[in-house]
Amino acid sequence: MNVDKRGQTKKIPIVDLSDPSDELVANAVVKASEEWGIFQVVNHGIPTDLMQRLEEVGRQFFELSAAEKESVTRPVDSQDIQGYFPKDPKSLKAWDDHLIHNIWPPSSINYRYWPNNPSDYRDVTQEYTRNVTKLTEKIVGYLSKGLGLRCEALKEGLGGDKAQYVMRINYYPPSDSIIGAPAHTDFCGLALLVSNEVPGLQVLKDNHWFDVEYINSAIIVLIGDQIMRMSNGRYKNVLHRSIMDKEKTRMSWPVLVEPKHGLVVGPLPELTGDENPPKFECLTFQDYVYRKIKKLLRD
Ligand code: OGA
Ligand code: NI
Repeated sequence: MNVDKRGQTKKIPIVDLSDPSDELVANAVVKASEEWGIFQVVNHGIPTDLMQRLEEVGRQFFELSAAEKESVTRPVDSQDIQGYFPKDPKSLKAWDDHLIHNIWPPSSINYRYWPNNPSDYRDVTQEYTRNVTKLTEKIVGYLSKGLGLRCEALKEGLGGDKAQYVMRINYYPPSDSIIGAPAHTDFCGLALLVSNEVPGLQVLKDNHWFDVEYINSAIIVLIGDQIMRMSNGRYKNVLHRSIMDKEKTRMSWPVLVEPKHGLVVGPLPELTGDENPPKFECLTFQDYVYRKIKKLLRD
């Protein structure tokens, strides 16, 4: 049970996207993003059987032998951050086994990092991409609207051809160690996450860790650093972590929606002024990631 310090029960918001009132849906998305920085969406239009197939091909890939998985490992001399990364037992930084590859736009894709075993991995991933980009556009539209009637800028900054989508698959085998992914916020604009039936995601709010309840076929939306910066702090970048299960393998499939790498991102000019000065520096996404990792951010 999720109970805060004052004994109040609190729940991570669930938004039903099939509600006939678009305005109510928009308000719920905006409120959840302001208060929590995370919500789950149900009736979101992505077919349940497609989500199941996504989970199936991901699981099949991770169950291959280490040698077979190496077919999509990044070459040692490459600067790429894509590919299969087995957990290094000596490194405290490596969280888990994971696979990362771009999925959108087509010009950003390097199929060398897309497994072709199982044989339908690529087809399923392509179909999921078509669906997840559409859902993202819808959510970014609501968030954009929530920033003010005339403010379409969030959509212009992270919608359409401004965004790059990255698939990450996390594989946490059964473990006695508790933390799978240490507490962090996502560097990207927002993340849309699917997990298998083993719960483990937790989010911090009001100094309390809340469990994200597993809802079959729901998609979890997490606000990342870039939307927080673009909205000048109005939308919250949620601090989250994941815990491991002692007996079961947990897997998750976050799709990370990032601003294209050369774009400069900062508080939207439409939102800032004398009364609301910009709280964050304007930086390209690469500069932001570099500075965050090196702890060089000024804000
Ligand atoms: C991530 C992440 C949590 C999870 O990959 O950024 O937060 O549930 N994963 O695996
Ligand atoms: Ni994360």
